[in-house]
Amino acid sequence: MLCPADHDITEFVLCGLSFLEHSMASGSSNGVLRPLLLGILVLGVFVTVFLMYFKPYEGWLSGPVESVSEHVKNLISTKSDKNATIVLIWLWPFGSKFDLSVCSSLFEIDNCFLTADRNFYNKSHGVIIHHRDISGDLSNLPQLQRPLFQKWIWFNLESPTHSSKLSGIEKLFNLTLSYHLDSSIGAPYGSIVPAEGEENFVPPSKNKLVCWIVSHWNPQHVRVKYFNELQKHVKVHAYGRAFGKHISDNDFMPTITSCKFYLSFENSVHKDYITEKLFNPLSVGTVPVVLGPTRQNYEKIVQSDAFIHVDDFSSPKDLADYLLLLDKNEEMYLRYFEWKQHFKVKKFHFPAEYACLTCDYLRRHKEYKEFNDLDTWYWGS
Ligand SMILES: *[C@@H]1O[C@H](CO)[C@@H](O)[C@H](O)[C@H]1NC(C)=O
Ligand SMILES: *[C@@H]1O[C@H](CO)[C@@H](O)[C@H](O)[C@H]1NC(C)=O
Ligand SMILES: *[C@@H]1O[C@H](CO)[C@@H](O)[C@H](O)[C@H]1NC(C)=O
Repeated sequence: MLCPADHDITEFVLCGLSFLEHSMASGSSNGVLRPLLLGILVLGVFVTVFLMYFKPYEGWLSGPVESVSEHVKNLISTKSDKNATIVLIWLWPFGSKFDLSVCSSLFEIDNCFLTADRNFYNKSHGVIIHHRDISGDLSNLPQLQRPLFQKWIWFNLESPTHSSKLSGIEKLFNLTLSYHLDSSIGAPYGSIVPAEGEENFVPPSKNKLVCWIVSHWNPQHVRVKYFNELQKHVKVHAYGRAFGKHISDNDFMPTITSCKFYLSFENSVHKDYITEKLFNPLSVGTVPVVLGPTRQNYEKIVQSDAFIHVDDFSSPKDLADYLLLLDKNEEMYLRYFEWKQHFKVKKFHFPAEYACLTCDYLRRHKEYKEFNDLDTWYWGS
Protein backbone atom coordinates (compact mmCIF):
# COMPACT_ATOMS: atom_id res chain seq x y z
CA MET A 1 0.00 0.00 0.00
CA LEU A 2 1.37 3.39 -1.02
CA CYS A 3 0.65 6.66 0.69
CA PRO A 4 0.19 9.59 -1.64
CA ALA A 5 2.99 12.16 -1.56
CA ASP A 6 0.46 14.75 -0.57
CA HIS A 7 1.04 17.86 1.44
CA ASP A 8 -2.21 17.49 3.30
CA ILE A 9 -1.21 16.51 6.81
CA THR A 10 -4.49 14.84 7.79
CA GLU A 11 -4.48 12.55 4.80
CA PHE A 12 -0.85 11.71 5.41
CA VAL A 13 -1.45 10.66 9.02
CA LEU A 14 -4.58 8.64 8.19
CA CYS A 15 -2.72 6.83 5.44
CA GLY A 16 0.12 5.97 7.82
CA LEU A 17 -2.33 4.55 10.37
CA SER A 18 -4.12 2.37 7.86
CA PHE A 19 -0.73 1.13 6.68
CA LEU A 20 -0.01 0.06 10.27
CA GLU A 21 -3.35 -1.71 10.61
CA HIS A 22 -2.80 -3.37 7.29
CA SER A 23 0.60 -4.80 8.26
CA MET A 24 -0.68 -5.99 11.64
CA ALA A 25 -3.67 -7.74 10.12
CA SER A 26 -1.57 -9.52 7.53
CA GLY A 27 0.06 -11.49 10.36
CA SER A 28 3.61 -10.94 9.18
CA SER A 29 4.44 -9.41 12.52
CA ASN A 30 6.50 -10.79 15.29
CA GLY A 31 7.24 -9.41 18.80
CA VAL A 32 10.05 -7.06 17.66
CA LEU A 33 8.77 -5.73 14.35
CA ARG A 34 5.49 -4.31 15.59
CA PRO A 35 6.80 -1.79 18.21
CA LEU A 36 9.64 -0.87 15.84
CA LEU A 37 7.23 -0.12 13.03
CA LEU A 38 5.04 1.91 15.35
CA GLY A 39 8.08 3.86 16.60
CA ILE A 40 9.21 4.67 13.06
CA LEU A 41 5.74 5.76 12.09
CA VAL A 42 5.32 8.06 15.09
CA LEU A 43 8.74 9.59 14.44
CA GLY A 44 7.91 9.98 10.75
CA VAL A 45 4.68 11.80 11.47
CA PHE A 46 6.44 14.06 13.95
CA VAL A 47 9.18 14.98 11.44
CA THR A 48 6.60 15.58 8.71
CA VAL A 49 4.56 17.89 10.90
CA PHE A 50 7.71 19.75 11.85
CA LEU A 51 8.85 20.22 8.25
CA MET A 52 5.46 21.29 7.00
CA TYR A 53 4.97 23.77 9.76
CA PHE A 54 8.30 25.45 9.19
CA LYS A 55 8.35 25.29 5.42
CA PRO A 56 7.14 28.88 4.83
CA TYR A 57 10.19 30.20 6.65
CA GLU A 58 12.69 28.86 4.13
CA GLY A 59 12.85 32.34 2.58
CA TRP A 60 14.93 33.44 5.56
CA LEU A 61 17.75 31.30 4.32
CA SER A 62 17.87 32.72 0.83
CA GLY A 63 18.75 36.36 1.31
CA PRO A 64 15.55 38.40 1.48
CA VAL A 65 15.53 41.81 -0.21
CA GLU A 66 13.53 43.38 2.57
CA SER A 67 14.32 43.82 6.20
CA VAL A 68 13.62 40.86 8.44
CA SER A 69 10.65 42.48 10.16
CA GLU A 70 8.94 43.30 6.85
CA HIS A 71 9.68 39.80 5.74
CA VAL A 72 8.07 38.23 8.76
CA LYS A 73 4.98 40.40 8.30
CA ASN A 74 4.71 39.38 4.65
CA LEU A 75 5.19 35.71 5.38
CA ILE A 76 2.52 35.79 8.00
CA SER A 77 0.12 37.28 5.51
CA THR A 78 0.79 34.48 2.96
CA LYS A 79 0.49 31.84 5.61
CA SER A 80 -2.86 33.01 6.85
CA ASP A 81 -4.20 33.38 3.35
CA LYS A 82 -3.43 30.60 0.92
CA ASN A 83 -5.84 32.04 -1.58
CA ALA A 84 -3.99 35.35 -1.88
CA THR A 85 -3.08 36.90 -5.20
CA ILE A 86 0.67 37.45 -5.23
CA VAL A 87 2.05 40.63 -6.76
CA LEU A 88 5.79 41.07 -6.99
CA ILE A 89 7.19 44.61 -6.97
CA TRP A 90 10.22 43.90 -9.14
CA LEU A 91 11.80 47.35 -8.79
CA TRP A 92 11.00 49.82 -6.01
CA PRO A 93 9.48 52.79 -7.87
CA PHE A 94 12.09 55.58 -7.93
CA GLY A 95 14.13 53.42 -5.58
CA SER A 96 11.81 54.12 -2.61
CA LYS A 97 10.46 51.35 -0.45
CA PHE A 98 6.87 51.46 0.74
CA ASP A 99 4.68 49.53 3.14
CA LEU A 100 3.46 46.38 1.37
CA SER A 101 0.80 45.37 3.86
CA VAL A 102 -1.73 48.14 3.25
CA CYS A 103 -4.16 46.81 0.61
CA SER A 104 -6.67 45.62 3.13
CA SER A 105 -6.23 48.27 5.81
CA LEU A 106 -6.06 51.37 3.60
CA PHE A 107 -7.88 50.44 0.42
CA GLU A 108 -10.23 47.64 1.47
CA ILE A 109 -8.75 45.29 -1.11
CA ASP A 110 -8.47 41.90 0.55
CA ASN A 111 -6.55 38.75 -0.29
CA CYS A 112 -3.52 40.48 -1.73
CA PHE A 113 0.03 39.58 -0.98
CA LEU A 114 2.40 42.28 -2.19
CA THR A 115 6.06 41.47 -1.92
CA ALA A 116 9.42 42.72 -3.13
CA ASP A 117 11.09 39.41 -2.34
CA ARG A 118 12.23 37.97 -5.66
CA ASN A 119 12.17 34.46 -4.19
CA PHE A 120 8.43 34.64 -4.84
CA TYR A 121 8.94 35.16 -8.57
CA ASN A 122 7.83 31.67 -9.60
CA LYS A 123 4.61 31.99 -7.61
CA SER A 124 3.72 35.57 -8.49
CA HIS A 125 0.50 36.13 -10.43
CA GLY A 126 1.72 39.55 -11.47
CA VAL A 127 5.07 41.31 -11.64
CA ILE A 128 4.98 45.11 -11.58
CA ILE A 129 7.84 46.77 -13.42
CA HIS A 130 8.24 50.53 -13.02
CA HIS A 131 9.46 51.90 -16.33
CA ARG A 132 11.84 54.55 -15.00
CA ASP A 133 13.71 52.02 -12.87
CA ILE A 134 14.58 49.73 -15.77
CA SER A 135 17.11 52.54 -16.28
CA GLY A 136 17.57 51.66 -19.93
CA ASP A 137 19.15 48.33 -19.00
CA LEU A 138 17.21 45.19 -19.94
CA SER A 139 19.24 43.10 -17.51
CA ASN A 140 17.22 44.83 -14.76
CA LEU A 141 14.19 42.83 -15.92
CA PRO A 142 13.48 39.31 -14.59
CA GLN A 143 15.75 36.83 -16.33
CA LEU A 144 14.06 33.60 -15.21
CA GLN A 145 11.55 31.81 -17.40
CA ARG A 146 8.10 33.33 -16.94
CA PRO A 147 5.52 31.00 -15.37
CA LEU A 148 2.62 30.44 -17.79
CA PHE A 149 0.04 32.09 -15.53
CA GLN A 150 2.15 35.15 -14.73
CA LYS A 151 1.46 38.62 -16.10
CA TRP A 152 3.96 41.44 -16.36
CA ILE A 153 2.61 44.90 -15.69
CA TRP A 154 4.19 47.99 -17.22
CA PHE A 155 3.92 50.79 -14.66
CA ASN A 156 4.46 54.42 -15.57
CA LEU A 157 2.85 57.69 -14.49
CA GLU A 158 5.17 60.05 -16.33
CA SER A 159 4.26 61.56 -19.68
CA PRO A 160 5.88 60.31 -22.91
CA THR A 161 8.01 63.48 -23.02
CA HIS A 162 9.57 62.49 -19.71
CA SER A 163 9.80 58.72 -20.27
CA SER A 164 12.62 57.38 -22.39
CA LYS A 165 11.59 54.90 -25.03
CA LEU A 166 13.43 51.64 -24.62
CA SER A 167 13.97 49.14 -27.40
CA GLY A 168 13.39 45.51 -26.49
CA ILE A 169 10.42 45.99 -24.17
CA GLU A 170 7.65 46.56 -26.70
CA LYS A 171 6.31 43.00 -26.65
CA LEU A 172 7.22 41.95 -23.11
CA PHE A 173 4.23 43.04 -21.10
CA ASN A 174 0.69 41.77 -20.58
CA LEU A 175 -0.91 44.76 -18.89
CA THR A 176 -0.42 48.49 -18.51
CA LEU A 177 -0.76 50.49 -15.31
CA SER A 178 -0.75 54.19 -16.10
CA TYR A 179 -2.71 57.45 -16.12
CA HIS A 180 -3.94 56.70 -19.67
CA LEU A 181 -7.70 56.28 -19.62
CA ASP A 182 -7.35 53.19 -21.80
CA SER A 183 -4.75 51.47 -19.63
CA SER A 184 -5.56 47.90 -18.63
CA ILE A 185 -5.43 49.06 -15.02
CA GLY A 186 -6.17 52.72 -14.41
CA ALA A 187 -3.65 54.62 -12.31
CA PRO A 188 -5.11 58.12 -12.21
CA TYR A 189 -3.57 60.97 -10.25
CA GLY A 190 -6.99 61.60 -8.81
CA SER A 191 -10.68 61.27 -9.50
CA ILE A 192 -13.97 62.90 -8.69
CA VAL A 193 -16.12 60.69 -6.50
CA PRO A 194 -19.62 61.06 -5.09
CA ALA A 195 -19.84 62.57 -1.66
CA GLU A 196 -22.23 64.11 0.81
CA GLY A 197 -21.35 67.63 -0.25
CA GLU A 198 -22.08 71.09 1.05
CA GLU A 199 -25.23 72.78 -0.15
CA ASN A 200 -23.57 76.17 -0.28
CA PHE A 201 -19.88 75.59 -0.39
CA VAL A 202 -17.91 78.63 0.65
CA PRO A 203 -14.29 78.56 -0.50
CA PRO A 204 -11.66 79.30 2.14
CA SER A 205 -10.61 82.93 2.43
CA LYS A 206 -8.25 84.18 -0.26
CA ASN A 207 -5.61 86.88 -0.24
CA LYS A 208 -4.21 86.37 -3.77
CA LEU A 209 -5.82 86.21 -7.17
CA VAL A 210 -3.59 83.95 -9.30
CA CYS A 211 -0.84 81.60 -8.11
CA TRP A 212 1.57 79.13 -9.64
CA ILE A 213 4.08 76.78 -8.04
CA VAL A 214 6.53 75.40 -10.56
CA SER A 215 9.19 72.88 -9.66
CA HIS A 216 10.64 72.20 -13.09
CA TRP A 217 11.24 75.43 -14.99
CA ASN A 218 12.08 75.07 -18.64
CA PRO A 219 11.79 78.07 -21.00
CA GLN A 220 10.93 75.68 -23.85
CA HIS A 221 7.80 74.43 -22.07
CA VAL A 222 4.51 75.60 -23.54
CA ARG A 223 3.42 76.48 -20.02
CA VAL A 224 6.33 78.86 -19.46
CA LYS A 225 5.62 80.70 -22.70
CA TYR A 226 1.97 81.04 -21.71
CA PHE A 227 2.88 82.25 -18.22
CA ASN A 228 5.26 84.88 -19.62
CA GLU A 229 2.41 86.38 -21.64
CA LEU A 230 -0.24 86.00 -18.96
CA GLN A 231 1.74 87.85 -16.29
CA LYS A 232 1.89 90.93 -18.50
CA HIS A 233 -1.85 91.32 -17.93
CA VAL A 234 -2.49 90.02 -14.43
CA LYS A 235 -0.25 89.59 -11.42
CA VAL A 236 0.73 85.95 -10.90
CA HIS A 237 2.21 84.95 -7.52
CA ALA A 238 4.80 82.50 -8.78
CA TYR A 239 6.78 80.20 -6.51
CA GLY A 240 9.60 77.74 -6.99
CA ARG A 241 13.33 77.78 -7.47
CA ALA A 242 13.04 79.67 -10.75
CA PHE A 243 11.59 82.60 -8.78
CA GLY A 244 13.87 82.28 -5.77
CA LYS A 245 10.76 81.48 -3.72
CA HIS A 246 10.98 77.93 -2.52
CA ILE A 247 7.80 76.45 -1.04
CA SER A 248 8.21 73.85 1.72
CA ASP A 249 6.01 70.76 1.82
CA ASN A 250 4.12 72.26 4.76
CA ASP A 251 3.38 75.47 2.90
CA PHE A 252 2.44 73.79 -0.37
CA MET A 253 -1.30 73.18 0.05
CA PRO A 254 -1.94 76.31 2.18
CA THR A 255 -0.38 78.42 -0.58
CA ILE A 256 -2.69 76.89 -3.19
CA THR A 257 -5.65 77.39 -0.85
CA SER A 258 -4.88 81.08 -0.37
CA CYS A 259 -5.43 81.90 -4.08
CA LYS A 260 -8.64 82.28 -6.04
CA PHE A 261 -7.06 80.68 -9.11
CA TYR A 262 -4.21 78.28 -9.54
CA LEU A 263 -2.32 77.64 -12.76
CA SER A 264 -2.62 73.87 -13.26
CA PHE A 265 -0.14 73.86 -16.12
CA GLU A 266 1.14 70.40 -17.05
CA ASN A 267 4.85 70.03 -17.85
CA SER A 268 3.99 68.55 -21.25
CA VAL A 269 0.82 68.25 -23.27
CA HIS A 270 -0.38 64.68 -23.88
CA LYS A 271 -3.71 62.91 -24.14
CA ASP A 272 -5.02 61.99 -20.66
CA TYR A 273 -1.95 63.41 -18.93
CA ILE A 274 -3.81 65.25 -16.18
CA THR A 275 -2.00 65.24 -12.87
CA GLU A 276 -2.15 66.34 -9.25
CA LYS A 277 -1.74 69.88 -10.61
CA LEU A 278 -5.48 69.70 -11.33
CA PHE A 279 -6.58 67.73 -8.27
CA ASN A 280 -4.70 69.79 -5.64
CA PRO A 281 -6.60 73.06 -6.22
CA LEU A 282 -9.89 71.21 -6.78
CA SER A 283 -9.54 69.50 -3.42
CA VAL A 284 -8.99 72.70 -1.40
CA GLY A 285 -11.51 75.03 -3.02
CA THR A 286 -9.36 76.89 -5.53
CA VAL A 287 -10.30 77.14 -9.20
CA PRO A 288 -7.78 75.47 -11.50
CA VAL A 289 -6.79 77.19 -14.74
CA VAL A 290 -5.63 74.26 -16.83
CA LEU A 291 -3.10 73.93 -19.62
CA GLY A 292 -2.73 70.40 -20.92
CA PRO A 293 -4.81 68.22 -23.24
CA THR A 294 -8.09 69.49 -24.72
CA ARG A 295 -11.05 70.64 -22.67
CA GLN A 296 -12.93 67.61 -23.97
CA ASN A 297 -10.21 65.40 -22.48
CA TYR A 298 -10.50 67.10 -19.07
CA GLU A 299 -14.25 66.73 -19.15
CA LYS A 300 -13.85 62.96 -19.16
CA ILE A 301 -12.61 63.12 -15.59
CA VAL A 302 -13.96 66.32 -14.07
CA GLN A 303 -17.10 68.43 -14.35
CA SER A 304 -16.94 71.00 -17.15
CA ASP A 305 -17.72 73.89 -14.79
CA ALA A 306 -15.11 73.03 -12.17
CA PHE A 307 -12.17 74.50 -14.07
CA ILE A 308 -11.10 77.13 -16.58
CA HIS A 309 -9.18 76.00 -19.68
CA VAL A 310 -6.65 78.27 -21.40
CA ASP A 311 -8.14 77.13 -24.74
CA ASP A 312 -11.41 78.83 -23.77
CA PHE A 313 -9.67 82.14 -24.58
CA SER A 314 -8.14 83.42 -27.75
CA SER A 315 -5.15 84.91 -25.90
CA PRO A 316 -3.49 85.07 -22.47
CA LYS A 317 -4.77 88.64 -22.26
CA ASP A 318 -8.38 87.49 -22.68
CA LEU A 319 -7.87 84.94 -19.92
CA ALA A 320 -6.38 87.64 -17.67
CA ASP A 321 -9.39 89.87 -18.32
CA TYR A 322 -11.77 87.04 -17.43
CA LEU A 323 -9.94 86.28 -14.15
CA LEU A 324 -10.10 89.96 -13.23
CA LEU A 325 -13.81 89.97 -14.02
CA LEU A 326 -14.43 86.96 -11.76
CA ASP A 327 -12.44 88.67 -9.02
CA LYS A 328 -15.12 91.40 -8.99
CA ASN A 329 -18.07 89.07 -9.38
CA GLU A 330 -18.45 86.71 -6.44
CA GLU A 331 -21.57 85.04 -7.82
CA MET A 332 -19.81 84.05 -11.05
CA TYR A 333 -16.79 82.83 -9.09
CA LEU A 334 -18.87 80.65 -6.78
CA ARG A 335 -20.41 78.82 -9.73
CA TYR A 336 -17.10 77.00 -10.11
CA PHE A 337 -17.84 75.18 -6.87
CA GLU A 338 -21.33 73.91 -7.56
CA TRP A 339 -19.95 70.42 -8.28
CA LYS A 340 -18.92 70.25 -4.63
CA GLN A 341 -22.53 69.81 -3.61
CA HIS A 342 -22.37 66.17 -4.65
CA PHE A 343 -18.73 65.28 -5.24
CA LYS A 344 -15.27 65.43 -3.81
CA VAL A 345 -11.71 64.73 -4.93
CA LYS A 346 -10.17 61.36 -4.31
CA LYS A 347 -6.38 61.29 -4.41
CA PHE A 348 -4.33 58.15 -4.85
CA HIS A 349 -1.40 56.89 -2.81
CA PHE A 350 1.64 56.39 -4.98
CA PRO A 351 2.64 53.63 -5.46
CA ALA A 352 0.95 51.39 -2.88
CA GLU A 353 -2.62 51.99 -4.03
CA TYR A 354 -1.75 51.23 -7.64
CA ALA A 355 -0.12 47.96 -6.62
CA CYS A 356 -3.24 47.00 -4.67
CA LEU A 357 -5.47 47.93 -7.62
CA THR A 358 -3.29 45.70 -9.78
CA CYS A 359 -3.81 42.83 -7.40
CA ASP A 360 -7.55 43.38 -7.48
CA TYR A 361 -7.49 43.46 -11.29
CA LEU A 362 -5.46 40.25 -11.54
CA ARG A 363 -7.88 38.43 -9.30
CA ARG A 364 -10.82 39.44 -11.44
CA HIS A 365 -9.12 38.98 -14.83
CA LYS A 366 -7.38 35.67 -15.15
CA GLU A 367 -7.73 35.54 -18.92
CA TYR A 368 -4.74 35.36 -21.23
CA LYS A 369 -3.53 38.77 -22.36
CA GLU A 370 -0.74 40.01 -24.57
CA PHE A 371 0.13 43.64 -25.08
CA ASN A 372 2.29 43.94 -28.15
CA ASP A 373 2.36 47.58 -29.09
CA LEU A 374 3.69 49.49 -26.12
CA ASP A 375 5.71 51.87 -28.31
CA THR A 376 2.83 52.91 -30.54
CA TRP A 377 0.38 53.04 -27.68
CA TYR A 378 2.56 55.15 -25.44
CA TRP A 379 5.02 57.07 -27.61
CA GLY A 380 2.87 57.10 -30.74
CA SER A 381 5.41 55.38 -32.98
C1 LIG B 1 -10.52 31.97 -3.05
O1 LIG B 1 -10.80 33.05 -3.94
C2 LIG B 1 -11.87 32.81 -4.83
C3 LIG B 1 -11.94 33.98 -5.80
O2 LIG B 1 -11.87 35.22 -5.16
C4 LIG B 1 -13.16 32.61 -4.03
O3 LIG B 1 -14.23 32.35 -4.91
C5 LIG B 1 -12.96 31.44 -3.09
O4 LIG B 1 -14.09 31.31 -2.27
C6 LIG B 1 -11.73 31.66 -2.19
N1 LIG B 1 -11.48 30.48 -1.39
C7 LIG B 1 -11.17 30.56 -0.07
C8 LIG B 1 -10.91 29.24 0.59
O5 LIG B 1 -11.11 31.61 0.52
C1 LIG C 1 11.75 28.96 -10.79
O1 LIG C 1 11.48 28.18 -11.93
C2 LIG C 1 12.59 27.96 -12.78
C3 LIG C 1 12.10 27.14 -13.98
O2 LIG C 1 11.15 27.84 -14.68
C4 LIG C 1 13.68 27.23 -12.03
O3 LIG C 1 14.81 27.09 -12.86
C5 LIG C 1 14.06 28.02 -10.79
O4 LIG C 1 14.99 27.30 -10.01
C6 LIG C 1 12.84 28.31 -9.95
N1 LIG C 1 13.21 29.18 -8.85
C7 LIG C 1 12.80 28.99 -7.61
C8 LIG C 1 13.28 29.98 -6.60
O5 LIG C 1 12.04 28.09 -7.28
C1 LIG D 1 2.13 37.59 -21.28
O1 LIG D 1 2.75 38.18 -22.40
C2 LIG D 1 3.83 37.43 -22.92
C3 LIG D 1 4.49 38.26 -24.00
O2 LIG D 1 3.58 38.61 -24.99
C4 LIG D 1 3.31 36.10 -23.41
O3 LIG D 1 4.38 35.32 -23.89
C5 LIG D 1 2.63 35.38 -22.25
O4 LIG D 1 2.10 34.16 -22.69
C6 LIG D 1 1.54 36.24 -21.66
N1 LIG D 1 1.01 35.57 -20.46
C7 LIG D 1 -0.25 35.64 -20.03
C8 LIG D 1 -0.61 34.87 -18.82
O5 LIG D 1 -1.11 36.32 -20.55
